[in-house]
Amino acid sequence: MTEAEAAAELARLAAEIARHDAAYHQRDAPEISDAEYDALVRRNRELEALFPALIREDSPSQRVGAGAVEGFSAFSHGVPMLSLDNAFSPEDFVEFCARIRRFLALPEDEPMAIVGEPKIDGLSVNLLYENGRFTRGGTRGDGAVGEDITANLRTLSDLPLRLKAPFPARIEIRGEVFMTRADFLAYRAAQEAALAERERRRDAGEKLGPAVSVPVNPRNAAAGSLRQLDAAITAQRPLKLFAYAMGEASEPPAETHHGWLETLRGWGFSVNPLSSVFNAAEAAEFQARMASERPALAYEIDGVVYKLDRLDWQARLGFVGRAPRWAIAWKFPAEQATTTLLRIDIQVGRTGALTPRAVMEPVMVGGVSVAHATLHNEDEIARKDVRPGDRVVLQRAGDVIPQIVSVVDADRPGRRGAAFVFPSLCPACGSHAVRVGDDVVRRCTGGLICPAQTVERLKHFCSRRALDIEGMGDERLALMHERGWVVSPADLFRLGARRAELSALEGWGETSVTKLLAAVEARRQPALERFIFALGIRRIGEANAKLLARHYGDVAQWRERMRAARIIGSEAREELGSIQGIGPTIAEELVDFFAEPKNLAALDDLLAEVTPDNAQVIEGGPFAGKTLVFTGSLSTMTRDEAQARAEQLGAKTSKSVSKKTDFVVVGEDAGSKAAKATELGVRVLSEAEFRELAGM
Ligand code: IVH
Repeated sequence: MTEAEAAAELARLAAEIARHDAAYHQRDAPEISDAEYDALVRRNRELEALFPALIREDSPSQRVGAGAVEGFSAFSHGVPMLSLDNAFSPEDFVEFCARIRRFLALPEDEPMAIVGEPKIDGLSVNLLYENGRFTRGGTRGDGAVGEDITANLRTLSDLPLRLKAPFPARIEIRGEVFMTRADFLAYRAAQEAALAERERRRDAGEKLGPAVSVPVNPRNAAAGSLRQLDAAITAQRPLKLFAYAMGEASEPPAETHHGWLETLRGWGFSVNPLSSVFNAAEAAEFQARMASERPALAYEIDGVVYKLDRLDWQARLGFVGRAPRWAIAWKFPAEQATTTLLRIDIQVGRTGALTPRAVMEPVMVGGVSVAHATLHNEDEIARKDVRPGDRVVLQRAGDVIPQIVSVVDADRPGRRGAAFVFPSLCPACGSHAVRVGDDVVRRCTGGLICPAQTVERLKHFCSRRALDIEGMGDERLALMHERGWVVSPADLFRLGARRAELSALEGWGETSVTKLLAAVEARRQPALERFIFALGIRRIGEANAKLLARHYGDVAQWRERMRAARIIGSEAREELGSIQGIGPTIAEELVDFFAEPKNLAALDDLLAEVTPDNAQVIEGGPFAGKTLVFTGSLSTMTRDEAQARAEQLGAKTSKSVSKKTDFVVVGEDAGSKAAKATELGVRVLSEAEFRELAGM
């Protein structure tokens, strides 16, 4: 992988991870599984290890803790909020007990009392009480620091605002905030109705109001409700709280964990009534009882937490890593069921990814009826060899989306159904769907015309860093697309013909339509690099668009050479590969884009409306082939302007200073980058020196 490819990939990862962070933490509506998310973070970390100079300021690795919603202040826990180790079998539990005995040197016959508590998958919170009053409360966050959600917590009816005396002067109480199954279903139904109403309003061109999210499970619903910036909204949500642990305490409130739970009850907390104390040997029995009671419980549980009862022993055992030695979460096995696979649908995502989805005869798994499951990608289908008509084992394992685990009796004689053939044409638009490089995902190449992708592509096309069409917001684009007025980018430039229809839309009016149309007109001559970037070709971010613009100079030349580059070994393909920073994968993406006749038609249609400016590169000069970093604020021009000038003079610009940097241009209030430049012996330029060398 070249540095430019890595840079493009890191940019993509930063954006994608940020999007998923927002979906998970702020809207509580995850779009991918935890495992898929972890894979993205891992990929980011691996690339950064290979290219440390490319670490971005907005990289997920540079952020502290888990994306806090803006608007909450930090909440530091007096004692860290830890996680628990997991057990999955009786053997794991026996080993947990043996480890405790070894650590404390307890004889075999010394009785060991254990408390078992159902493990609810909600949101853990830390509640600080000072002189018996609830003063502050926070989320877990990264374990050391969470978000201060005091105002929201005050609205919970299960949370006592004052403790019944006697109590220690200062104590942190931990517990789980959750939603019952019934409350969750009712709340989700209400959110679905609100969403449908919002869509109706969008169709009718009415004012939309705030965004609506539909929670996928009780945990998301509880998390979303607790993270409201307006406590009045939290107050309307049916949240419950069970208290179960202690953080910092000015004096020990009990000698045993079960005594502590009694104390909590006495103070007015609700403590799970199923929590009970027994001898370690009886835990397996308790586990079995909880598993059988699970379907009838009012809330979802995913296992049982076992804690050593004696607090003095807990104190001696302490912690290893991020988990206590004195507690363990014994998880229930994932729930499975068998059903028939009816067919495999292919869905096209907003970025053109073709995702197979299993459609099955509905079956109950873990208390919910399931009719769909993800099959991830075509390799996965081949590996499992699932075919329509097969009996399949389905599993719901904490994840939002159920999975197909295996085929039942795949070797049976007379197996129905032929092996599934993954389509090579996009089911949404008929364009070619291809796999590039070692990507497991097959993607539609018809980016400019594919209905599954158009709105997303149009948003990108109009966005600030692309064509920068002011006033062309996401909602407006979605509406115009729905009406059929804007299907491909070229249509944006023909909106003038729809002035009357646009003005008739609720809340638009003459003035805003005039402004919008003027903003479109102002972009008929975009810079070539912006134009290339705006097309939204996969892996062609700003940096690669600049490389292409600089190399090919004008759009006709670029188009012609990209077509010619289809033939491997051709002169045009060699030329493309020779551009510093354009690796084989990027070349393949470009060639695939230009190989799709529908894209060419859309591109030519667009070129009938806009005329990209030729890229002008001034040869020679002090910055040709050099790498520049700008830092601090400039006084006579914007950072964008300065970078554009440097690039016009043949320089590359970068965000971080490394040994490869040739110049660091230092503005006012420059921070660590200026210091690093001096440290590495990189030449530092003032703004005035830069202007002079750049002939400005
Ligand atoms: S005790 C050091 N008790 O499970 C003690 N946790 O994997 C740590 N949880 O973040 C927590 N029910 O959100 C404890 N009865 C219970 C619990 C419980 C659910 C959650 C909690 C925690 C996670 C640990």
